[in-house]
Amino acid sequence: MIVANWKCNGSKAMINEWTNNFLTNYVEMNKAFIGIAPPSIYIESLLETELNKLVEINIGSQDIDISSGARTGAISSDMILDFDCKFSIIGHSERRQLFNETNEEIKQKILKIAKKTITILCVGETEEENKNDQTRDILKKQLEVVRDIELNNSLVIAYEPVWAIGTGNTPTPNNINEIHKFIKDVVQSTSYNSAYPMVLYGGSVNQENAKSFFKEEFVDGALIGGASLDGKKFANIINIFNGTN
Ligand code: PGA
Repeated sequence: MIVANWKCNGSKAMINEWTNNFLTNYVEMNKAFIGIAPPSIYIESLLETELNKLVEINIGSQDIDISSGARTGAISSDMILDFDCKFSIIGHSERRQLFNETNEEIKQKILKIAKKTITILCVGETEEENKNDQTRDILKKQLEVVRDIELNNSLVIAYEPVWAIGTGNTPTPNNINEIHKFIKDVVQSTSYNSAYPMVLYGGSVNQENAKSFFKEEFVDGALIGGASLDGKKFANIINIFNGTN
């Protein structure tokens, strides 16, 4: 599973150029689930590109709000389903840090959406927590949001160390593999129905390092920010995952 998180980037012109670059470089192969999460205002533009007719691409949302109604600026789970979004990212560290999102709100979002579409729950420690050897404790706390919830295959976890996002720094592939195994075990032992989720790695994934992560046993794909803004680079990372490059 390879998912692009465009964050607050993009324009109509960018989408045209991105699509051309993607289609020129992507080698068709029915293996990876390919997702793109553009800013919500561009979801429809992306659904209308020829990309959708030529390649099986899943459009998703970068987040949802906890409910509908009098919540200016918000987008509800029903709205993204109305636009046929195939997944939503929840709990990204930028939402936690810049918008003060709490675990309690993240849990409410998961309850709203997890049974209806694929939910990519982001977890990860800060640099300080990493240096203090608190990574596993922090992840356990963040994963409390799935405790006692009945989960089906639609829950995916993205391990995104905050210190690796947009910095060019990453844990070693071996470290990532160990943490992914830990995450799978925690979710399996705490969720109501012992769900065993897919776990994606996110944080400075690019064409150069992708292969080293994908060869690890418990790495089921990647959530990609910066490198996903270029259609060629994103296509190449998918090709690496699919083994067609
Ligand atoms: P990055 O972002 O690939 O630019 O590090 C990843 C993310 O925030 O999902």
